[in-house]
Amino acid sequence: MEKKILDQLTDIIQYLYEKNAALEGEADFVDYRKLDRIVIGVAGGDGIGPFITAEARRVLEALLEGPLREGRVAFQEIPGLTLENRLQAGATLPPETLAPLKACHLILKGPTTTPDAGHDMLNLESANVALRRELDLFANVRPVKIPEEGVDWTFFRENTEGAYALGSKGFHLNEDIALDFTVTTTKGTERIARAAFDFARTHGKTRVTAVTKANIIKATDGKFLKICKRIAGDYPDIPFDDWYVDIMAAKLIDTARRADFQVFILPNLYGDILTDLGGQIQGGVGTAGSANIGKRHAMFEAIHGSAPRMVEEGRLAYADPSSMIKAGGMLLAHAGFTGEADRLEEALNHCLHREKRVAVTGWPAGNTGEELTDYIIEKLRA
Ligand code: IPM
Ligand code: MG
Repeated sequence: MEKKILDQLTDIIQYLYEKNAALEGEADFVDYRKLDRIVIGVAGGDGIGPFITAEARRVLEALLEGPLREGRVAFQEIPGLTLENRLQAGATLPPETLAPLKACHLILKGPTTTPDAGHDMLNLESANVALRRELDLFANVRPVKIPEEGVDWTFFRENTEGAYALGSKGFHLNEDIALDFTVTTTKGTERIARAAFDFARTHGKTRVTAVTKANIIKATDGKFLKICKRIAGDYPDIPFDDWYVDIMAAKLIDTARRADFQVFILPNLYGDILTDLGGQIQGGVGTAGSANIGKRHAMFEAIHGSAPRMVEEGRLAYADPSSMIKAGGMLLAHAGFTGEADRLEEALNHCLHREKRVAVTGWPAGNTGEELTDYIIEKLRA
């Protein structure tokens, strides 16, 4: 075998050992309630990102009027997380962008564009993936709710391992054989499983479901499932079951059964896929927000991309900000502003599920994103 390939493999194995060793010395979760001042970094990103992020910020400003006035909370715009800037710097996360993001307590982040091999651009790694890794945001929490149907799901997607751990380190063995990797570690799985069960316990959930393909992907998915089962043993009050990802996808569109599921634990890639499915079931990926939670940092974003097509076709004003507004709600809850988070949830239920006076469809036939935000703020102030 070519020495170069063996060297590449050795580097990868070394990287994994080091990364795993770093997991050992993990700190505890930050308690935001104990901070005198919480700085929320705002990075708009690309495409529709800056627009829907600004709308979400408006909603947060309406809810946090008091804390903002008293200086307990402050927003800080962080420019630089744009594709243009990243291409110019030749880096996914230029240091002058990463440093201020790291210095904030919480981050509200718009979607960022990732160049792919099919475009004539520098093939940068995804900024999302890099940020999740750099800030060790291991839990990607993605709620999907359809109150009319009794659907109330929360996905706990492992966010730093699986197929993404070495996502940009796969390589070609020769002209005919390409190789990628997927990774499961004990600590990495324990912490996402515990996050899901702790959430279930504090939110009165009565079922946690692990999703893998452990019958086929035996080493990594097998390990993931085994650890979920072991952690489930520490939560005997919460029923646990497991499903394979293919039939899970089928069950999510089974209207007779889907409302039975509550909390899901999934490896990274299945979490990516099933949460887009969940978002679509809820009314479109534009309606789905998410939290990326780590012990020291937390970042809140839409589950979808930057929709460059909407910008090119002149439909920016019709982009749905509800994904980012919901991400803002998760930020409030995570920071301990639970009353404000509940008020927002109630306003969203009213505006998006009950009264529905304003409807954003992405097209000029519907309302603009700004109109939806105004409607939500009006309800908050009512
Ligand atoms: C998501 C997105 C990202 C992912 C992309 C933009 C890298 O699809 O947050 O689900 O694959 O995780
Ligand atoms: Mg995705």
